[in-house]
Amino acid sequence: MRIILLGPPGAGKGTQAAALARSEGVAHISTGDILRAHVRQGTELGRLAKGYMDRGELVPDEVILGIVRERMQEEDARRGYVFDGFPRTVVQADGLGRLLDELQRPLEAVVNIAVPDEVLVDRAVGRRACPKCGEIYHVRNRPPRTPGVCDRCGAELVQRDDDNEATVRNRLAVYHRQTAPLIDYYRERGLLREVDGTRSVEEVSAAIRAAAVPGR
Ligand code: AP5
Ligand code: ZN
Repeated sequence: MRIILLGPPGAGKGTQAAALARSEGVAHISTGDILRAHVRQGTELGRLAKGYMDRGELVPDEVILGIVRERMQEEDARRGYVFDGFPRTVVQADGLGRLLDELQRPLEAVVNIAVPDEVLVDRAVGRRACPKCGEIYHVRNRPPRTPGVCDRCGAELVQRDDDNEATVRNRLAVYHRQTAPLIDYYRERGLLREVDGTRSVEEVSAAIRAAAVPGR
């Protein structure tokens, strides 16, 4: 499997990418997760990225392309990849195209997960995540068995710094301005598939699989 999951903040990219990559045995490449790991570890890159992330703005393209180039060298990425939250600008999409040409691992599909803005704000503000294993929950839509505790590994769940309503609204504005043009970008290249992201996690998952691997 070699796909991009495209969609606004809170659409369910991370939830779906993690499950798909696990079941297909391919790399889950989330630039947001990689950046958050740098912030936690206090690296130079993390210090640079944090300001942009806290404001809900995009981290500069060259920084992101460097991260992705490095991540694509890892073993699991040789089997395939699910990109989550990348690319986010036309410059990133062009850079990815060149990298995949170089590596001779072309994209099979770009799946756009469509969800209206009103639903997205609620999803992001109610999200809780496991800092240890990365599992994603929602206080109402997908609650853990014990409130505040990860079902998979028992760690205490946290809320992301950028999941307050004001920052989520700015992330949505940034998405519409800078990332939504990629829908047409990939449509013009014959790679775009559209999925309704308002259905249940399981239904969205089945729809993505059908769109990404035609005939299954
Ligand atoms: P990033 O981490 O990529 O965040 P995002 O794109 O804003 O997306 P989210 O993680 O908010 O949402 P998601 O679609 O993954 O939804 P999820 O599955 O969690 O980026 C964060 C920041 O990092 C950016 O603002 C930027 O600063 C920087 N950055 C990252 N990548 C970058 C790049 N390439 N270039 C530049 N800067 C970059 O689900 C959301 C919630 O909904 C959860 O609670 C979940 O349980 C629930 N949910 C999921 N599916 C369903 C469903 N079907 N029904 C009901 N609830 C559901
Ligand atoms: Zn966990």
